[in-house]
Amino acid sequence: MTAINEVTDYSRDGDVGVITLNSPPVNALSANVRDGLAGGMKAALDDAGAQSIVLICEGRTFIAGADITEFGGPQKGASLFEVQDAIEGSTKPVIAAIHGTALGGGLEVALACHYRVAVPSARCGLPEVNLGLLPGAGGTQRLPRIVGPQKAMEMVTSGQHVPAKECLAMGLVDEIVEEGKLRDGAVAFARKVVAEHRPLKKVRESNQKVEAARGHPEIFADFRKANARRFRGFLAPEYNIRCIEAAVNQPFEEGLKTERKLFGELLTGSQSAAQRYGFFAERQAAKIPDVPDDTPVIPVNKVGIIGAGTMGGGIAMNFLNIGIPVTLVEVKQEALDRGLKVVRSNYERSRTARPEETEARMSRLSGSLDMNALADCDLVIEAVFERMDIKKDIFSRLDAICKPGAILATNTSGLNVDEIASATKRPEAVIGLHFFSPANVMKLLEVVRADRTSKEVINTSMKLSRKIGKIAALVGVCPGFVGNRILGARQREAQKLMFEGAMPWDIDRVLYDFGFPMGPFAMSDLAGLDIGWVKEKSKGETIRDVLCEMDRRGQKTGAGYYDYDENRVARPSPVTEKVIKEFVAKSGVNAREITDEEILERCLYPMVNEGAKILEEGKAIRASDIDVVWQNGYGWPVYRGGPMWWGEHVAGLPKVLERMKEWEGRMGDTYKPAALLERLVAEGKGFGG
Ligand code: CAA
Repeated sequence: MTAINEVTDYSRDGDVGVITLNSPPVNALSANVRDGLAGGMKAALDDAGAQSIVLICEGRTFIAGADITEFGGPQKGASLFEVQDAIEGSTKPVIAAIHGTALGGGLEVALACHYRVAVPSARCGLPEVNLGLLPGAGGTQRLPRIVGPQKAMEMVTSGQHVPAKECLAMGLVDEIVEEGKLRDGAVAFARKVVAEHRPLKKVRESNQKVEAARGHPEIFADFRKANARRFRGFLAPEYNIRCIEAAVNQPFEEGLKTERKLFGELLTGSQSAAQRYGFFAERQAAKIPDVPDDTPVIPVNKVGIIGAGTMGGGIAMNFLNIGIPVTLVEVKQEALDRGLKVVRSNYERSRTARPEETEARMSRLSGSLDMNALADCDLVIEAVFERMDIKKDIFSRLDAICKPGAILATNTSGLNVDEIASATKRPEAVIGLHFFSPANVMKLLEVVRADRTSKEVINTSMKLSRKIGKIAALVGVCPGFVGNRILGARQREAQKLMFEGAMPWDIDRVLYDFGFPMGPFAMSDLAGLDIGWVKEKSKGETIRDVLCEMDRRGQKTGAGYYDYDENRVARPSPVTEKVIKEFVAKSGVNAREITDEEILERCLYPMVNEGAKILEEGKAIRASDIDVVWQNGYGWPVYRGGPMWWGEHVAGLPKVLERMKEWEGRMGDTYKPAALLERLVAEGKGFGG
């Protein structure tokens, strides 16, 4: 065996040369790896005893892509194109041996090889779109030459990781070899192909599929139309499609130039910067400075959930999905039956669960009217309605019932977890696990650390969240925690703007155009205006009171802030407009024209300011955790980073501060700038320090 450099070895297995990369954690294409590949290819070509070459990786995965941390920095070492040219132009066949994931630049290296073999558990994909990019090393030109433009468009715009079996079916992989025996399988394959005809097959020369699509622009038009909603606001999907179009309409070398140009535009734009930031933010959020990764984890083999409503049922599904049995507890048989039925019908309606899987999952779910059924659970999650007295009662009973060491969690969306913990004699076991509705779908989990929550309980909760497919952020106890507290700031502004003369549909439009899935008033109409509204107590004191009294309670009554037609399509409502205008006139305010720019600033800057207050109070560990919460739980467009990233990199903290001060002077204390914001601006710093 010869060491090429610190991450690459070259060895020989009979007449097959083997280049082995070992650059943990994911063999990303850093300068070292590229140099190693170039050196490895040279060694293999110089080795007269090698008839063919296998490229394989150590560790958990094949090359998982370009090294994202190098983006934007100076180019060092061999370029990826040089490496690919060396592979593709090799006189000896090169075989990529894939395990784990061949992603992005990793798959692009494999596409420059003459053959690809993989173990059954391997996956291949071009996920650059998720980083606001496109595959910039020939991926958009080679992939459609193998799988055809339609499939290629699907892959590059979704970023999906395609299982080996599917890759085999579409020709992306040439052979599947036995799990655990990748090297042997690849070497055997290499021997088999060595006698095959020369010159060697190159993907770039395989033009049949792209030529067949030439003169059919409707393929692209239809694809754009079918996915318009999904791609709204994002640049990268459109750029990816243009590259596939180039693969169809231009010769290979020209197509590569188009790809290079569009890649450069995306790389230097703010969307990709925001999306790359999001990638690392999500991983950073899992790291808790005072809870080291090796903190003991409490085994969770059985879960109890109190409350079989929409939330409780949705939470249960997360655990059932990964094979953990769940006991749902309710007070009334009827409610329990309804809850169990909803879980079943959710599975039955889902396109992904096969009938036998539904049965297997349902067999792990049991119901009870007796909290004693939770005695042997490792984790109990309370998901009843938001009343402190009820929650405290439940926790004191759980304290008496649950086995020692069990984690006692509340799904409260904003109540004081310390106070809930005080109802038990084991506050160290109490934590908040704030799921978002629908809990079986939404990615975010706010893990709420109370004063006395133990590190084991925190570590277990963070690790478990990952197992159930959630993205967790650790937050501290404060009203509304991170997500709802910042939402409160935005809601307050939306309401105030309405009193100053803006119409709900104007505010919604501005936020929708910014990239949110819907604005706050459309959201209220969807949820129901009467949530928390009590008819008997209503005195027409707010616009909502008046609308509810008129039976305009949202989509379900055909009218709320908006009017709805029979297909639930919303239209601005003259009735609502009249109500608002009368209300404003009565309150003596002079309604004025409010620009879109002011709406945006008024809705978003107070969010940045609230986030800064959360940071200075230590209720979030880092600004990026706040962004993780807003991206994954509240529909903040990922291509705009998150409120903190956007505030710093797009709006600019000095401007946010200036406006907050101006509004404080005009409208009072609600707008008081966070001390942290003042300090950062004075020091010319950002949230990252
Ligand atoms: N560059 C640099 N670091 C990377 C990386 C990359 N491409 N991919 C992963 N990492 C790092 C992560 O930040 C993480 O670091 P820490 O442990 O310090 O937090 C570590 O590797 C492990 O990553 P995960 O926690 O995500 O591990 P996982 O096993 O859950 O997932 C993975 C592995 C599927 C490869 C996932 O990391 C992933 O999706 N990576 C990104 C893949 C990607 O987008 N590749 C395309 C890059 S762009 C490109 O290639 C452009 C081009 O055309 C040239």
